[in-house]
Amino acid sequence: MNIIVLGGSPKGEASITMQYVKYMQKHLKNHNFSIIQTAAPIKRLEKNRDAFLKVIEQVKKADAVIWAFPLYYWLVCSQYKRFIELIFERKATAAFKGKYTASLSTSIHFYDHTAHNYIRSICEDLGMNYIGFFSAKMRDLFSDQGRTKFQAFSHFFINAVQERIETPRYSLPLPAVTFHYKPQAETQQKVAVHKKITLVTDSTEGNIGRMIERFKDCLAEPVHVVDLSKINIMGGCLGCLKCSNNNVCAYTGKDDYIEMFNSSIKPADILIFAGSIKDRYLSSRWKMFFDRSFFNTHQLVLGNKQVGILISGPLRYVPNLTEILQGYFQIHGSHVIDIITDESHDSKRIDSLIRGLALRLDSSAELKYIQPFTFLGAAGIKIFRDEMWTGLRVVFRADHKFFKKHKLYDFPQRNPLKNMFYRIGYFITGIPFIRRQMEQHMKNGMIRPFQRILTEKN
Ligand SMILES: Cc1cc2nc3c(=O)[nH]c(=O)nc-3n(C[C@H](O)[C@H](O)[C@H](O)COP(=O)(O)O)c2cc1C
Repeated sequence: MNIIVLGGSPKGEASITMQYVKYMQKHLKNHNFSIIQTAAPIKRLEKNRDAFLKVIEQVKKADAVIWAFPLYYWLVCSQYKRFIELIFERKATAAFKGKYTASLSTSIHFYDHTAHNYIRSICEDLGMNYIGFFSAKMRDLFSDQGRTKFQAFSHFFINAVQERIETPRYSLPLPAVTFHYKPQAETQQKVAVHKKITLVTDSTEGNIGRMIERFKDCLAEPVHVVDLSKINIMGGCLGCLKCSNNNVCAYTGKDDYIEMFNSSIKPADILIFAGSIKDRYLSSRWKMFFDRSFFNTHQLVLGNKQVGILISGPLRYVPNLTEILQGYFQIHGSHVIDIITDESHDSKRIDSLIRGLALRLDSSAELKYIQPFTFLGAAGIKIFRDEMWTGLRVVFRADHKFFKKHKLYDFPQRNPLKNMFYRIGYFITGIPFIRRQMEQHMKNGMIRPFQRILTEKN
């Protein structure tokens, strides 16, 4: 069988993910592997059509395709995202149609599911048969259990291809959108927020451009607009980890990204992110914005912000993107007030939704209200905490200091007094007589501690 691997790491061959690909190749000796890097040479693939078409020719000849990539900010890296965009833009989708496929990633399991959801829906849009994914933790290959699991997955994949298994589609096909949003001039009183507002977009054209204008029109104060399409950004994150010791990026002094991030994004009280849906996410330019923010490594530098999101396009068909955006801001300790889209195809309604967003940003900023975590923030921060406390701090030294300073190492076992209390409690509630009493009074017992709070004067 001919298997083509589309390499999605900016590090090309010298990537951890590629070591997993090589291991798979070693175990599937009877099959031919062609490994093609598509993220690292993205600039060449973009400029040189022949180079891009050569990749597509290889895909045509293959029986199966493996998407192999590292996790970058809830998704694949911007370079790989751009390669996917090129497949659609250059009408090369036919090469993928009907092919068997799977995705393989390495990561620390931080939002790996949203990246695989993304690739799965891309495969479905390409008309491929998606068998499944293997999400390895970076060092899984060093354990017997990790290797055994990975071998099993490799054979599981091959079996499904050989037996020509039919697989279900999880995502709804994206609808074609032709709606033209026409905002009305604001006639009501402008909303005075008295806060520093930065709006980031990758375009000021089309529906999203008009949504931005409408938002600005609702506000009494100026909005600082950062247009990513106009900012000099040399390229995507290289994954070189030069930033790991003291947050100095390999691009420092070479382009305008870091200056923009430090002067416009970090100091803002209110952040508005605006963009259009491109395939199953925003544009690769937007992805570059997220990836390049890795010069802050794992430091949560966008805390306590009120956030509004404006999106043009069928967001309801891409719930994965909503989860990604919510997760991103929760991790930072910021508050997504809402995501406003043009999906109603009703200009009047969009006008009033945008005004409603402005009013809620104002009220939430005034109240300093930051929404509490859901699973997205609570689970994500625990993964960061544990990884930082163990292996990551050896590499990311500045992050370790940040985590200590901000008391993010909040391990429950670190409170000896509470631990003693829980141990005693555990022992006592194991005594049969007490256990029976406890079970009889469980409901009232659980709410009793609330009585004090509820009867307090304020
Ligand atoms: C810019 C950047 C963003 C990352 N984002 C994530 C992430 O969202 N989730 C995660 O689990 N790991 C994340 N990682 C860790 C990488 O996925 C991990 O180190 C991977 O094994 C690197 O693979 P590679 O050597 O093949 O590029 C990120 C690393 C970088 C450099």
